[in-house]
Amino acid sequence: MTPPQSPSLITEGQARFHVGSAFYREQSRLGRDLAILAAAVDQQTRGTLRVLDAMSGCGVRSLRYALEAAADLVWANEGNPELGDLLHHNLAQSLTNESFRVTHRDANEVFFECYQRRDFYDLVDIDSFGGGAPYLSTGLWATKLGGLLYLTSTDTRTTGGHNPEHSVQLYGAYARPHPASHEQGARLLIGSAMQQAAARGLAVQPVFAYYNGHVHRVMLRLTAAQSWPAKQYGFLGYCHHCGHYQTLSWRQLGRAICDHGAISRAIAPQPLTISGPMWLGPLHDEAFLAQMQGLALQRDWREATDLLGMMINESALPPYYFTLPEIGRRGRMDIPKRDKLMTELRDRGFHVSQTHFEAQAIKTDAAIADCINAARTCQAVPHPL
Ligand SMILES: C[S@@+](CC[C@H](N)C(=O)[O-])C[C@H]1O[C@@H](n2cnc3c(N)ncnc32)[C@H](O)[C@@H]1O
Ligand SMILES: [Zn+2]
Repeated sequence: MTPPQSPSLITEGQARFHVGSAFYREQSRLGRDLAILAAAVDQQTRGTLRVLDAMSGCGVRSLRYALEAAADLVWANEGNPELGDLLHHNLAQSLTNESFRVTHRDANEVFFECYQRRDFYDLVDIDSFGGGAPYLSTGLWATKLGGLLYLTSTDTRTTGGHNPEHSVQLYGAYARPHPASHEQGARLLIGSAMQQAAARGLAVQPVFAYYNGHVHRVMLRLTAAQSWPAKQYGFLGYCHHCGHYQTLSWRQLGRAICDHGAISRAIAPQPLTISGPMWLGPLHDEAFLAQMQGLALQRDWREATDLLGMMINESALPPYYFTLPEIGRRGRMDIPKRDKLMTELRDRGFHVSQTHFEAQAIKTDAAIADCINAARTCQAVPHPL
């Protein structure tokens, strides 16, 4: 066997591997950590774990699922056959021959073969480039009922609303730009997967959604058909005049206007900038995240522990966030301090949390006018000495 091209051995978690000419980003580690934790929680619950790593690259995920989530079997598929020796070498160094399989086929071909052979997987990980749309529905063909599907989108330009026609083609939804666009990326991906699952008489539920500044990853659980969540699959409206958001159902589209609430009722109502349809419900399964967090704590994975804490807090809040610079700009004041503003809003009876989508932002059930008022109060109060 040809030795891997890169002489240096990389360590991530318990995996040791060469990267050679494969695509591998150290910065994407947290997204892999979350997947390993989810897989490990499921493995403990179900007593079994068979993973299909459909776009393996150098095999880092396959290794980690086997070594850190006790997968019984990992199928590492990588479309580029030139990575074959590297991938096989990496897996063979740490795993027994019976516990892994390497193939070099198009991922969709693999998914359909799984379906044809009724060979379904507890976790299907699709680490694709681009918008992920070609695999949103096909990944379901290889996923076990009750199992997990981990999807990717790297096309933040489209999900951020800068190419709405392309967004229609990818996700069947019109995406427009607004300040909470990082969260919109996750919601479009989930919404599209939900619709595609429903079209096949199945359902998917979000387990978690994660954004690292470049890439969206969503973990979904596949289940038998459920009643369609009509109230949570709809549209997000943004008012460019006052900065507030509204969620809208299909039936409300004809009345999609903003009266600007407490900011300025003197200004005539304005039409909203509408994106969707997309998933508007909770982004994460809080109970499952708590189990993942317990495991992260046990393993002393501090970054994942903190991230999961933030995800649990943000989960049930409305499907958008307000950025601190926008609150400052609209209130004609300095950018407010996040923690002081959060305390002030809590004192006023609102729910509020940080959001992992954007460090300089808050999620809250308060309107933007309430945020601006609260920020003004914070700035008026002198700092305690
Ligand atoms: C983002 S990289 C994978 C990185 C790897 N999963 C990791 O975590 O380091 C995507 C990989 O998918 C492969 N690929 C792209 N399209 C594919 C397809 N349709 N079927 C199978 N593999 C594909 C590419 O050759 C590339 O190695
Ligand atoms: Zn308005």
